[in-house]
Amino acid sequence: MKNSTTLFMLCMILAGAMVIQACKDDDEETNTPAPQEFVANSTTFQDFENWSLDAVNVGPSPSLGSGHAGNDSTVTRNVYFNNGQDRVNGTYPIGTIIAKRSTNPAGTVDEIVGMAKRGNGFNTAAGNWEWFMLNVNGTIAVDSTGTELRGGANFMGGSCNGCHASASANDFTFSK
Ligand code: HEC
Repeated sequence: MKNSTTLFMLCMILAGAMVIQACKDDDEETNTPAPQEFVANSTTFQDFENWSLDAVNVGPSPSLGSGHAGNDSTVTRNVYFNNGQDRVNGTYPIGTIIAKRSTNPAGTVDEIVGMAKRGNGFNTAAGNWEWFMLNVNGTIAVDSTGTELRGGANFMGGSCNGCHASASANDFTFSK
């Protein structure tokens, strides 16, 4: 009898502790403020080929124009969304990162580009996205002066913003 009472008490204490823990978790979720700005660094895109491969586009695309390397039948364009992120109420959350690698079997095309939802009023003309040119290992490419190839509305003469504007209904992404 005594043993079973002790066991019962122990169970009650354990159950109580679990409820308290569950409440704590809830509090943490509601109290954590959403990030205001996400600034990508050299490691942000590093394992992009292990992200969710959410689109594989092969062959010419009219939307592509001359915007990305290799708009022809030989080129495969893999689009990776980190954690398979989807839009939430029409837009991608701050911190969403996407990378695209275009390759062909001949090896004459190998282009990696990225976009990161930066937020905080950055590039308001195109949904607060920051644009990137990446290296094969996912680090941010640099120009001959060592400056990182990244930017907003004026990056690459405004071409990223200009063309992706036709996908504004999908928060400036074509692939999903
Ligand atoms: C002339 C149009 C055009 C221009 C210019 C352009 N893009 Fe794209 N981009 C596309 C299309 C179309 C896709 C859809 C994927 C595919 O079919 O290759 C795409 C896809 C992407 C993706 C994958 C996410 C998505 O939208 O599907 C990234 C990242 C990206 N582009 C980055 C850039 C960057 C960075 C620049 C500027 C250096 C740029 N793009 C310029 C047309 C363009």
